[in-house]
Amino acid sequence: MTGAVIYTCSHRRGGNSDRAAALLAEGVRDAGGAAEILPLRDYEIQHCLACGFCDKHTDKRDRDRCALGRKDQAWEAFAPLFTARTVLLASPVYFYHLPSRLKAWIDRGQQFWTARRGGEPWVADLPERAVRAVLVAGQPGGEKLFEGARLTLKYFFRNFNLTLADPLALRGLDGPGDLRARREFEEAVAELGRAAWRESA
Ligand SMILES: Cc1cc2nc3c(=O)[nH]c(=O)nc-3n(C[C@H](O)[C@H](O)[C@H](O)COP(=O)(O)O)c2cc1C
Repeated sequence: MTGAVIYTCSHRRGGNSDRAAALLAEGVRDAGGAAEILPLRDYEIQHCLACGFCDKHTDKRDRDRCALGRKDQAWEAFAPLFTARTVLLASPVYFYHLPSRLKAWIDRGQQFWTARRGGEPWVADLPERAVRAVLVAGQPGGEKLFEGARLTLKYFFRNFNLTLADPLALRGLDGPGDLRARREFEEAVAELGRAAWRESA
């Protein structure tokens, strides 16, 4: 397994999620690891068509398991989940959930759910690893503000034998520079990056 992969999932370049991703990478590197940041907004991702192709074609794998696998860049974003030693993600909350491109990518993960359910070794035998998430939201309150995002991430990442730790949920961050202004939040994010690498050994 290679280094850490960090997905940054906002459509706003240079905002709080991007800042969190940079701090996570710093943390990983401080702990002696290597980290690669993947901005999901740079990937063209089509929506799952619910066409059943991945259910029928159990002889196929990798990008060929999905009818859209050669039509967009979803597979390019999935591939690191097969090789990363640990996985991190930074995302804003949009309408009490995840941004649409990230959710579209997650829905395309149905092909791996199918493969895992069938016990196909290329998916089912991936090593057990951890995934950590930083979620940022503008509102200061809202009891269930992060709950939809947490559950979706939990079940998506299980397809790759990745177990989601409790997300670091940061409230009251709305303007693009708001995370930079909160030292204690910044330190918590960097520490998450350090812990991710330390505990992935
Ligand atoms: C389309 C959209 C929907 C949003 N929905 C919520 C929401 O439901 N709750 C909330 O607290 N903040 C919401 N926000 C605010 C963002 O979560 C917040 O601005 C966050 O810091 C953005 O992260 P970024 O800087 O990485 O883009 C929303 C923002 C946008 C653009």
